[in-house]
Amino acid sequence: MIVIARARLLSPSEADSLEALARDTIKGVRADPRILRPDDPLLWWFELSTAALIRALERRIRGQLVGEYTLTANGVKLDHISGLAAAFYVALFSVCRQMAGHFRSSNPTWFRKPKIDESLITGDREAILSSFAANVKNMAAALAQRATEQHTDHAVAELQLANTTLTALTEASVDMVLTSPPYCTRIDYSAATRIELAVMHPLVEVKMEDLGRQMIGSTRVPDHDIAVDAAWGPICGRFLGDLKAHPSKASAGYYYKTHLDYFEKMALSLTHLAKGLKPAGAAILVVQDSYYKDIHNDLPGIVTEMGAAAGLQLRRRHDFEFKRSMAGINPHTRTYKRAAGAIEAVLCFEKSREAIQQ
Ligand SMILES: C[S@@+](CC[C@H](N)C(=O)[O-])C[C@H]1O[C@@H](n2cnc3c(N)ncnc32)[C@H](O)[C@@H]1O
Repeated sequence: MIVIARARLLSPSEADSLEALARDTIKGVRADPRILRPDDPLLWWFELSTAALIRALERRIRGQLVGEYTLTANGVKLDHISGLAAAFYVALFSVCRQMAGHFRSSNPTWFRKPKIDESLITGDREAILSSFAANVKNMAAALAQRATEQHTDHAVAELQLANTTLTALTEASVDMVLTSPPYCTRIDYSAATRIELAVMHPLVEVKMEDLGRQMIGSTRVPDHDIAVDAAWGPICGRFLGDLKAHPSKASAGYYYKTHLDYFEKMALSLTHLAKGLKPAGAAILVVQDSYYKDIHNDLPGIVTEMGAAAGLQLRRRHDFEFKRSMAGINPHTRTYKRAAGAIEAVLCFEKSREAIQQ
């Protein structure tokens, strides 16, 4: 996300250089399987020479546009990647996504790994390089278009990469938080961006498995015991009790543990968020309800109660009916009785006075 966000912040004044730079980037790029490490994750989807060409192009971008502020002596600081480098990485992401289209699963954000007997993706050199150049050209055109639009404000944006369950914002430093956390619908965001992570592998020091584990909504069983916390509120307590008591397979085991992990991470994140807000600061969270089998997971209600425990008072709530939720595409959901669609709720909190006095 930080790479995409950085690319979006590229100034429209740079549009004119993009195509010329991209011509340099692709010049003479050749597939050299010798530069490919056997554990290169591109090999999950792409056949050897295709993976080698993509890696050669990535290496060229890195050599050309990534410097010592990103590749520091103390490791990679992705927060420091330049807008230009980010834009070129985004163009390469698009090339890979387009090629790997048929590995999208029924959950449209996911890229699955090929099955053992499935053939890997091959792509011809000319096609891959010209697709990269075309993606850069489109980005340049979109950027140039932005230059013609009227912008009245020129706020400075600072991007930082952080894990909300571990990193606290500086106390009372933020006017407003606007966020949409994972919805507890078993979307593993590290799997959703597998292709991008594979492309960026030389710059991503964390293992994909560990990244998955850090996610709110991780599908992995947590590596420590978690007890239900009263601060998560009565709705959450009831939901977890019902889930644990559900007769279906793995409810009391795997599903109970991964849900505990979700709520623990949400509570930690909300506490960090509340601490970082200035007195009377606002936090706007978008969350969606869902079902575990036939049990309603009232996430808007749970987040409202968790917010109150963290010192956030709900001031306004707007509900939007959402017709096609992820659950709707899963054929197994028809087995259970439940309401169709989902509610996407916008929860508007204010940092409460009691929290300020503490
Ligand atoms: C529902 S999506 C919202 C995405 C974003 N609002 C957007 O419009 O692109 C939830 C996001 O939370 C991120 N996330 C999950 N666990 C996180 C954590 N522990 N710290 C920070 N972000 C996390 C995911 O990577 C995902 O991008």
